[in-house]
Amino acid sequence: MILNACFCFTLLLLSLCCLFCYKKFSYWSDKNIKGPTPWPIVGNFANVMFQKKSVNQCIKDVYFKYKGEKLVGLYRGFQPMLLVNDPEYIKHILVKDFNCFQNRGMSTSKSRLSDNLFSAEGEEWKILRQKLTPVFTSRKLRDMVPIIQECVESFLLFVDTLANRNVDYEIRDMTSKYTMKVIGKCAFGLDVDTFTDEKNQFSEMANLIFKQTLSDRLLTVLDMIFPGLKKLFVTRLDIQDYFVSLVRKVLLEREGKPLIRKDFIDFMLELRDCGKINRKLDNEKVCEIEIDDYMVAAQAFVFYTAGYETSSATMSFMIHELALNPEIQDRVYEEISQVLAKYNGEINYESIKYMKYLEMVFDETLRKYTVAGILFRKASSRYTFAGTNLTIEKGTLVLISATALSTDSAYFPEPDKFNPENLSSENLSKLPKCVYLPFGEGPRNCIGMRFGKILSLLAMAAFLKKFKVEPANKTKRELTFNPKGMILISNEGIWTKISRRQT
Ligand code: HEM
Repeated sequence: MILNACFCFTLLLLSLCCLFCYKKFSYWSDKNIKGPTPWPIVGNFANVMFQKKSVNQCIKDVYFKYKGEKLVGLYRGFQPMLLVNDPEYIKHILVKDFNCFQNRGMSTSKSRLSDNLFSAEGEEWKILRQKLTPVFTSRKLRDMVPIIQECVESFLLFVDTLANRNVDYEIRDMTSKYTMKVIGKCAFGLDVDTFTDEKNQFSEMANLIFKQTLSDRLLTVLDMIFPGLKKLFVTRLDIQDYFVSLVRKVLLEREGKPLIRKDFIDFMLELRDCGKINRKLDNEKVCEIEIDDYMVAAQAFVFYTAGYETSSATMSFMIHELALNPEIQDRVYEEISQVLAKYNGEINYESIKYMKYLEMVFDETLRKYTVAGILFRKASSRYTFAGTNLTIEKGTLVLISATALSTDSAYFPEPDKFNPENLSSENLSKLPKCVYLPFGEGPRNCIGMRFGKILSLLAMAAFLKKFKVEPANKTKRELTFNPKGMILISNEGIWTKISRRQT
């Protein structure tokens, strides 16, 4: 009797679960939107949860499986998400209808470091973006070039020691040391010895930030099943404490007064001295946010995380491709030599502008290896896609696979081939808008785009002028990527042989 009751109860429970899943997972099919079949509880991201695939790869696979569909329905846990594949719709989301898609809808923990420009939403984001944009004007970038040049000098000295040793070298390690030095100097005014002091705390922080602990992993997985769960937890207090104390130390050293050399911290110092920053709203009201040490630390944190890995990864993939494509490397070298002949041999803000082919190689690197491959947006109100009767609800997450678009043969005829001509100004002008998106697009695109480009190009020009790269024994032609990586990280490392050029 008891056994029968248990059996009936289990059956009822199972039927209710099935009904619940069926209801939840009919969301997109009810709207006539196709998509992969979700699994109970995990939705379409089981491979991501079990670390078999990166989110980037998972979304890219869906894009190609549903090629021809402009919109594809997905589930994160039970939460519906929309993958937008059509460049015209993408343009609407990122640019034309930005008012409805201003936020990213990031899952962040309760740490005060989450109050940063990347994760901020609504008015807070608008104020921060407006106040931080002047850090990256052409004038400010030009002022930063001498600081970057100092870092390039240290970089070349370091590479020189490698060339002396005549051994194969893991390039990512080398470019990371350089970008870490630049971020330390330009963003924090710190002279970090990244090249010789392997264990310096500033660089070590990156290991803490980018390598997830088991509890981080677990929380991320649970947050995928129960969206918003992460917000209930305060995590990574050690990282928060480090950045707050670092910012306080730098501010104290400057005795609360901005230096003449305006770097990021100076800028934040000025804002902090105002106490509060505000923005006038359309309805004449004023929205205010308080700038305290935590707020400054949060912005410093995002410049560190968003600037360091992306730029060093791009430079390392660029060196990898140049080693595999000697004719492209020779052409870059020719261009550098020709431009420098006119600029007294100096690689600076002016001369770098004339190295167009070098820039094309950089851009093509980001096409083939889109290091930050997914763009996220969240609908802040109900939204109907033009020319359809598809309406998504407020709060729906929208994804765009920059990786898939830039490797789609519909836009780039031989996507696996490294061909800088893909991004010549002539070919770029023929591409539909919002197909090449390594830095995102619209008002919420990458604020550090020009800074990231300049710091990479200055170093690459100086490096390629002096050194030549060739494949090493350990070089893998086709790289595979770490499924746990937040950005594109090669599983096998990037190995190259470096030698000095005979001049
Ligand atoms: C090769 C280098 C870089 C790449 C490929 C890259 C890529 C991106 C991408 C794809 C986004 C999202 C854009 C969107 O959603 O439309 C982004 C946002 C952002 N990036 Fe970068 N980035 C790079 C360098 C940098 C640097 C050097 C900094 C700062 C020093 C930086 C700071 C940021 C910030 C703060 C955001 C958020 C902007 C906002 O939400 O308003 N990035 N980046």
